[in-house]
Amino acid sequence: MKMKSMYKDRIDTRKDFSAENCFKSNWTQRVETSVRNVLKIVNFSLPEGIIVEYGVGYSINLEKIKADYYPEKDILGFDIKNFSGRPWVKDLDVRNICSYKEFKKPIALAINELPNWHESYITKQAGYDHAMNNLVVGGIYIEARQINPEFYDYPRHVYENDTLKKIYVQSGHIGFIKIKD
Ligand SMILES: C[S@@+](CC[C@H](N)C(=O)[O-])C[C@H]1O[C@@H](n2cnc3c(N)ncnc32)[C@H](O)[C@@H]1O
Repeated sequence: MKMKSMYKDRIDTRKDFSAENCFKSNWTQRVETSVRNVLKIVNFSLPEGIIVEYGVGYSINLEKIKADYYPEKDILGFDIKNFSGRPWVKDLDVRNICSYKEFKKPIALAINELPNWHESYITKQAGYDHAMNNLVVGGIYIEARQINPEFYDYPRHVYENDTLKKIYVQSGHIGFIKIKD
C-alpha cells in the first residue's frame, strides 16, 4: 500500500483548484469585506510598510484597498501562479519565500489567504512566518480560517501569542494587530 506523505500540502495535488473555486464563489468578496472591517477597527490607520497578500488567486482586492485608503503604499501578492496577470503578483511557491531577499520589506498589512492550516500546514506557516518576520509594530495580520469551530483556534501558536492582539473574529477570517516585536 502507498503511504500518503505527511508533508503534502493541498497545492501538491490540486494546482489551481482553490483559486478557481474562490473566483467562482463569493469568497473573494468576503475577503475584501473582512479586510475593510478590520481596517475600520483601527480607523484605517496603518504604519509605514507595504500591503501583502499570500494566496492572492484571481483577486485584485488589494488594488481596491490601495485606491480607497492607501494610494502611497505598495502592494504585493503571492501565488503559485499569477492568475490575474497583475505586475504586483509574484508567482512562487510560498514555501520557498524566505530564500527571496527582495521580499524582505517592512509590512503594514499582511493577509494570509493560503489554504487552511489542517490541510496545508507548511504553506500556511510559511506565509505566517514571512508576515511575522516583516510586520512592523502597529501592523495588521489577517488570516483566512476554517469556519468549522473544530479548527477555529488551531494552531495555538497563532492564537496564544504575546506579540499579536486579536481584534477581529468572524466566520472565515481572524485579524490581529502587532503590539510588540
Ligand atoms: C483560498 S485561495 C485564495 C483566494 C483569494 N485570496 C481570493 O480572494 O479569491 C488559496 C490560494 O493559495 C494558493 N496557494 C496554495 N498553496 C500555495 C503555495 N504553496 N504557494 C503559493 N500559493 C499557494 C492557491 O493557488 C490559491 O490561489
